[in-house]
Amino acid sequence: MNVQKNGLFISFEGIDGAGKSTHIAGLSEALSAKGLRVTLTREPGGTALAEKLRNLILNDAMDALTESLLVFAARRDHVECVIRPALARGEVVLCDRFTDATFAYQGAGRGFDLQTLSTLESWVQLGSQPTMLQPDLTFWFDLAPALAAERLANARVPDKFESQPVAFFEAVRSGYALRAKADPKRFARIEANQSKEAVFADVIAVAKARGYL
Ligand code: TYD
Repeated sequence: MNVQKNGLFISFEGIDGAGKSTHIAGLSEALSAKGLRVTLTREPGGTALAEKLRNLILNDAMDALTESLLVFAARRDHVECVIRPALARGEVVLCDRFTDATFAYQGAGRGFDLQTLSTLESWVQLGSQPTMLQPDLTFWFDLAPALAAERLANARVPDKFESQPVAFFEAVRSGYALRAKADPKRFARIEANQSKEAVFADVIAVAKARGYL
């Protein structure tokens, strides 16, 4: 793949506590060391407006449709103002969560209608453009929810999602599994129940196998 010409869009997914953050930073360093220009960003968020929406989404109680609309509103701003322009400049965009998280959290976790989410997905990621924006590669850090809960218990004050019971994360995990099954070429499942070093080695191996490193 010619990264210079087309840009490269990589997303990172998994239930809370699966431990994706350090690996995003590590992959960013490895790509930068190869001379690639990297844009590091996250969802919900990534623009001033979307970060304001993130604050509402993560902290305020709301029904699942409102939550989905806010998540996609934040995504629209992020896609238009940050992701598409960075890809057009030929950069590598590393995004901490993207639309798979909506299908997993709002869809599978909260039980919201998947068809409506698909409609919102095409509004936001296709719009009037010729092609639907999707990541070229999605790392799915997969970990049993009971283990993720143990990791989270030692971390910071939980937000609205992090304080959900294990059963919620079982559903979220099955939501990710469904998305991975529907698009196996895009997804790389990473076994997250390993040492940080072993997980990172797997991430690097996938990036190398794809010709990105
Ligand atoms: P997370 O990515 O874990 O960031 P941090 O590590 O800073 O807490 O937090 C984002 C939360 O938002 C996470 O619980 C999943 C949730 N989320 C959704 O529910 N839907 C979405 O579409 C996205 C992008 C995130």
